[in-house]
Amino acid sequence: MSIEYDLNAIVPPYITEYLRDKMTHNDEFLHELERYAEENSVPIVEPETARFLSVMCRIAKPKKILEVGCAIGYSSILMAQATDADCEIATLECNEDMVHIARENIKKAGYAEKISVIEADAKDYLSYIDDDEVFDIIFLDGPKAHYIYMLDECVRLLKKGGMIISDNVLYKGMTADDNHVVRRKITIVKRLRKYIDMLMEHKELETSLLPLGDGVTVSVKI
Ligand SMILES: C[S@@+](CC[C@H](N)C(=O)[O-])C[C@H]1O[C@@H](n2cnc3c(N)ncnc32)[C@H](O)[C@@H]1O
Repeated sequence: MSIEYDLNAIVPPYITEYLRDKMTHNDEFLHELERYAEENSVPIVEPETARFLSVMCRIAKPKKILEVGCAIGYSSILMAQATDADCEIATLECNEDMVHIARENIKKAGYAEKISVIEADAKDYLSYIDDDEVFDIIFLDGPKAHYIYMLDECVRLLKKGGMIISDNVLYKGMTADDNHVVRRKITIVKRLRKYIDMLMEHKELETSLLPLGDGVTVSVKI
């Protein structure tokens, strides 16, 4: 049974259409992954968020990236394309099937040396990474309801001047407005609201909240 979200709650459809029309790409392998995601209902970053992520990588020139939520490897391949050859990307994924598919895709894309897919529950795994301030970018695109539990570890693992980019934080507009909330999503929505408050009040972060795609925050460690 599909859920009745208001898919136009964040950005009016004519703007989304315009953005997507302007921000196309010619990468046939990424097109293939987009088709696979669509046909198999795998959620991957929306096209405008994908371009944003790529541009942020080119600006920040990271040497180490951590991604939470790999799925089929689409966004990690995108970040690999947008970074220097010596940038290392670790991407966490808890679903075994996704891990296999992602590894295959990453190999086909020629990034097996650059991207490590780690099969783990990110909520537990982050605390096992013992070095502080190692990552230049942390991209949170996994379990939205658990972002609140991951934030302290992410801040610990982030270099000064580094960024935490969090996707889906406006969650079809539900985070911003009770009238958009689908009842069975209320717990996730409450936790996302708390997550945004935590970001905004965090002493070590400055955060911008953008109505891009499904809502994105960019937090820089100050
Ligand atoms: C939105 S998809 C990621 C899409 C991917 N970043 C992209 O754009 O190509 C979210 C993924 O996070 C994974 N996930 C959910 N909870 C997780 C957790 N606690 N630890 C690691 N991965 C998790 C899901 O299995 C799913 O594949």
